Amino acid sequence: MIRQPAGAARPPIAAAHLRTDAWWVLPVTVVIVLGAFVVYSTWAALQNAHYFFAPYLSPFYSPCLSQSCLHLTFGVGLPDVSFPIVGVVSPAFLILWGPGLFRLTCYYYRKAYYRSFWLAPAACAVRDVKRAYTGETRFPLILQNFHRYAWYVAVVFIVLLTWDALLAFRFPNGFGIGVGTVVMWVNVILLAAYTFSCHSCRHVCGGHVDVFSRAPGRYRVWHVLSWLNERHPTYAWLSLFSVGLTDLYIRLVSMGIIRDLRIL
Ligand code: FES
Repeated sequence: MIRQPAGAARPPIAAAHLRTDAWWVLPVTVVIVLGAFVVYSTWAALQNAHYFFAPYLSPFYSPCLSQSCLHLTFGVGLPDVSFPIVGVVSPAFLILWGPGLFRLTCYYYRKAYYRSFWLAPAACAVRDVKRAYTGETRFPLILQNFHRYAWYVAVVFIVLLTWDALLAFRFPNGFGIGVGTVVMWVNVILLAAYTFSCHSCRHVCGGHVDVFSRAPGRYRVWHVLSWLNERHPTYAWLSLFSVGLTDLYIRLVSMGIIRDLRIL
């Protein structure tokens, strides 16, 4: 190894990077998977149909709030929002902003899309495409700091989706369990794991405590959340797949393309 004399300037490296491994595989995969999810979820939200098949409600349309909903979550619907050319706006758009903002501002997804979509930088030891680095200190990226508040909104959605999953046992002819019931429960468990492994959650529940010995309860909670937090990227991807696949399952059953099997 050639040692640099102390104080000597490093020679400039002409190449964009010196990596010889397939570092580009991860960013390309993220672009494909995240891009596919955004396209599918936007398409599903625009459909304004096939999001309910008793007793299953798609997570993209929960809570169902507008009068045109096939399945009103609170029994009373808000007046439909409509525009002259667009017509009645899909009820999905009344609620998708909440989980959408939560994911958009998530620390893990930020890393994923900054690297994959903005190439800033695309990988470790690979040069940024943009020369200047401004971080998240200016508008609009400074708004990412609102993630801690988006977490509270996400918790409300976990409560609502748990309610939907409970209702998924209530078939028109009484109590039952179908494949859709299992699908909805897996989805809400993965979404809860993603939400409660969030860095903001870990901070709110115990991260800001200075002396743990004076707050043993908070310490225990913080300990569990730290374990979850280490797995946050895994839950981020699994819950992304589960929420999309749950909508797809209910959509296909509602369209009559597949049949929901009753387990009980
Ligand atoms: S850091 Fe990912 S959801 Fe909060």
